[in-house]
Amino acid sequence: MTYILAIETSCDETAAAILKDGRYVLSNIVGLQWGIHKRYGGIVPELACRLHIEVIYPIVEEAVKKSGITLRDIDAIAVTSGPGLIGALLVGVSFAKALSYSLNIPIIQVNHLEGHLWAIFLERRVPKPFIGLVVSGGHTNLYIVEDVGKYRLLGSTRDDAAGEAFDKVAKILGLGFPGGPAIERCAEAGDPDAVSFPRALSGKKGFDFSFSGIKTAVLNYIRMRYYMPHVDDIPEALAGQERFKADIASSFQQAVVDVLVSKTIGAVRQMGLGRVVISGGVACNKLLRERMRDEAKRHGIKVYIPAPEYCTDNAAMIAWVGYRYFKKGIFADLRLNPDARSRIG
Ligand code: KG4
Ligand code: ZN
Repeated sequence: MTYILAIETSCDETAAAILKDGRYVLSNIVGLQWGIHKRYGGIVPELACRLHIEVIYPIVEEAVKKSGITLRDIDAIAVTSGPGLIGALLVGVSFAKALSYSLNIPIIQVNHLEGHLWAIFLERRVPKPFIGLVVSGGHTNLYIVEDVGKYRLLGSTRDDAAGEAFDKVAKILGLGFPGGPAIERCAEAGDPDAVSFPRALSGKKGFDFSFSGIKTAVLNYIRMRYYMPHVDDIPEALAGQERFKADIASSFQQAVVDVLVSKTIGAVRQMGLGRVVISGGVACNKLLRERMRDEAKRHGIKVYIPAPEYCTDNAAMIAWVGYRYFKKGIFADLRLNPDARSRIG
C-alpha cells in the first residue's frame, strides 16, 4: 500500500489530503480563508501567507487523523510548488520539506495546473490524450494533455482570468467575495439577454482568451446608466436595485460562458480529439457545466467535469499527480523552492 500526503497552499486555501494507492481519497481537508479576505473584497497576499502559517499544521494533522493512518505510514509528500502567490507557496513547500526531512521520506513537486488537469481522475478515467481547460481565479488555459508531465499549451488569457473577471464584477456590484458563486446566485433572477456584453476574441483564430474588456464594459454600462464616475460609489448606489444587478450578473455570466464554450469546443474539434476535461474553480459554475455539456453533445464530443469539491483548489488532486511521479521515481529534494510563475506545456 502506498500513502501520499499532499499539501496545497498556492492561493487562499490551505489544503491537505491523503491518497491511498493513487486512487482512494482517505481525507481531503480544505481550510478556506474567505472570512478574512471578504472584508477587503479580494485576496490580500500578505494575509493569505500569515493564515497559511497559522493553519497548516492543524490542517495536515486533521488530514492524517481523518485518514485513519499515522504520519509514519506516509510514503511521500507531494506539494504544490507553483504557480501561485510566492509567500503562500513558501509556507506549503517549507512545511513539506521539514516533514520530509523529519520523516525521512521523499518530497515530490507538483504544478498546481497539472493538479487541476488530472483532478477528474480522482473520480473516473478519461482516455488520453484529451483537451484540458483550466478555468480558475488565476488561469484560463487550454492544453492538449498527452500524459502526466506531457502538456501542450494551446491558448491562455491575454489579461484577466475568467474567475478574476467574476471576482472583479462581483466587487463592482457589491456582491462580496468570492465573486463566482455570488454572481451565479445573483444571476438566477436576471435576464441573460438584458445587456449584450462583448465576447472578446470569439470567432477569432487561435485559442487565446481575454476577459479584462468585459469587466470594463460592465463598469462603463453601470456608469453610463447611473452617471457614477467613481467605482467605489457603485455598490452603495445600487443598493436595493436587485433586478438591475441580477440582469448585469446574468448577462455577464452568459457572455463569459459563451466565450469559454465556443473556444473550448472549437479547440476540441480542431484537434480532433473528441473529449475535453474542464476544471478549476469556475468549472463549478452551473451554466458553464450545462452549456459545455449541451454544446459537446451537439458535436459528438465527450465532456468530463469533476465534482465541485475537486474543481476548486484542493490537495487530493495534487496527491493524484504526486503518486504518478512517485511511481516514476521523479522526486525533488530539500533544495526545492517554489516558483510563483512556473508553467507547464
Ligand atoms: O481553482 P480555484 O479554487 O483557485 C485558483 O486556482 O484560482 O478558483 C477560484 C476561482 C475564483 O475566481 C472564484 O470566483 C471562481 O473560481 N469560482 C466560480 C464559481 N465558483 C468559484 N466562478 C463562477 N461560478 C462559480 N460557481
Ligand atoms: Zn486553482
